[in-house]
Amino acid sequence: MANDNSKSVLSHEKIETNNFLMIVLILVVLLFGGLVEIVPLFFQKSTTEPIKGIEPYTALQLAGRDIYTREGCYNCHSQMIRPFRAETLRYGHYSVAGESVYDHPFQWGSKRTGPDLARVGAKYSDEWHRIHLTNPRDLVPESNMPAYPWLAKTPVDAQVMPSHMTALRRVGVPYTDAQIASAAEDVKGKTELDATIAYLQVLGLALK
Ligand code: HEC
Repeated sequence: MANDNSKSVLSHEKIETNNFLMIVLILVVLLFGGLVEIVPLFFQKSTTEPIKGIEPYTALQLAGRDIYTREGCYNCHSQMIRPFRAETLRYGHYSVAGESVYDHPFQWGSKRTGPDLARVGAKYSDEWHRIHLTNPRDLVPESNMPAYPWLAKTPVDAQVMPSHMTALRRVGVPYTDAQIASAAEDVKGKTELDATIAYLQVLGLALK
């Protein structure tokens, strides 16, 4: 029997004793497996379409989201509730892909020095966030979250909003011309703290 096998053109022995062939075949298998897993996601409704109730961020919320990424909040906070009982009891419904279709880039993450924020919207009052972001220890004495006192003193950069929203529209966020035209006006006079709170307060509401 062993003799029969060694005669075939691509016997297993040939593959196992030829490093190059082995590597090429492994790559082919990985590539095929990867495509089979990944490609369908681009065409599945559940991963490409917004769930009911999800709206593109308003100009103010979007400005807040930019501050969230600029300040590196994602280094300590994930926005992804995993489908486990311990997680859903603490944070609410697990996260679904349709909630993040307008997020570019998404903020899922896995690093949790602080709690997950995927459904923090409406959990606290605006005033709570105002105090907490200015100095977390005023509300949570043992907190190791940094204070962000400059947010309250810095106005939102209104000029960048229209071009920012135009760019997002190009990658699929359905902003209307009217929304883009009024974007700068919408955030005028607001501070970065107002924007960050507006963003936090809308997180996860569609699937509360
Ligand atoms: C060094 C890590 C760290 C960074 C960076 C950080 N946080 Fe936190 N955050 C924490 C910790 C720890 C807690 C829990 C204690 C507390 O409430 O202060 C927390 C709590 C929170 C809460 C309350 C969550 C809840 O459900 O009670 C919010 C909201 C929040 N952070 C927002 C932010 C925002 C916005 C930023 C960026 C501007 C940020 N955090 C940056 C560590 C961090």
